[in-house]
Amino acid sequence: MNHLLTHLRHVDLAVPDYDRQLDFYSGVWGLTKVTEDSGISFLAAEGSPEQYVVRLRKADEKRLDLVSYGVASPQDVDTLAERLLAGGVQLISQPGTVDTPGGGYGFRFFDVDGRTIEVSADVEVRQHRKIEEKESIPVKLSHVVLNSPDLNKTREWYETHLGFRLSDTLWHPRMGEAMHFMRISSQHHSMAIAQGPHTALHHVSFEMRGIDEYMRGTGRLLRAGVRKLWGPGRHTAGDNTFTYFLDPHGNTVEYTTELETLDEDTWHPHVYDFSEDGVADQWGTANPMNELIAKESFNDVDRGVFVAPPV
Ligand SMILES: [Fe+2]
Repeated sequence: MNHLLTHLRHVDLAVPDYDRQLDFYSGVWGLTKVTEDSGISFLAAEGSPEQYVVRLRKADEKRLDLVSYGVASPQDVDTLAERLLAGGVQLISQPGTVDTPGGGYGFRFFDVDGRTIEVSADVEVRQHRKIEEKESIPVKLSHVVLNSPDLNKTREWYETHLGFRLSDTLWHPRMGEAMHFMRISSQHHSMAIAQGPHTALHHVSFEMRGIDEYMRGTGRLLRAGVRKLWGPGRHTAGDNTFTYFLDPHGNTVEYTTELETLDEDTWHPHVYDFSEDGVADQWGTANPMNELIAKESFNDVDRGVFVAPPV
């Protein structure tokens, strides 16, 4: 098993209404624009050593451009590339210099559903800072959740090729398995796979400093009139808090905090029946989850399936 991935780095989105999207993420959402260059911008989270956690690109069609993960060294980049090639995975680029802020050494490939994944090492660390008490901006990227038309096929692929481990599963008596939470470290999940009608982005989650800052951030979004999908509440799987909103292009984004750190040696995955009271939201403060809310996060059919982004 190749436990090479260390963490989630960034999620890159392409959108038609670029200005509005940039205004949202660098404004009310609380990220910092670090670089902008003709229709491409890089947004950092002030508490994160990553150069950027979101990249926005102006494009005719909305799509997920890529999801990026870190590995520990250039050797690990090469090792992973060799393993993926040997495993029949379609590489988009060979390992080489990464041409984005912070540079580094990395490569890109398609996952089993055709999403573009980037893996890199030796990316320069961004000068970050401690987020202060009551400061309600994201500390860092927490996790990404991906819709897949075949939940278990996607899960197996991520386990086999990228060394993800299953932490927990959500199950529903009528729908069956609905979500697998996957980890690459002791963080309960860096990625989750949601059963959806098509391949698409489900949501991107940003970690806040603590409960107070998470609630303040939630309130800022509500006051700004940003559409809240679900929350505030506290999940059982991962034990993290949640409030979900929609960005200007209908992508779901989440403020979270206190995501569980688990002991990998002793952990055994649970199957949670999320039709049971208190499973989806331990607190009971979130609006009830229903099919209409769930559908919002199915998102649009992703236009980037097996199409590498141009940059
Ligand atoms: Fe989440």
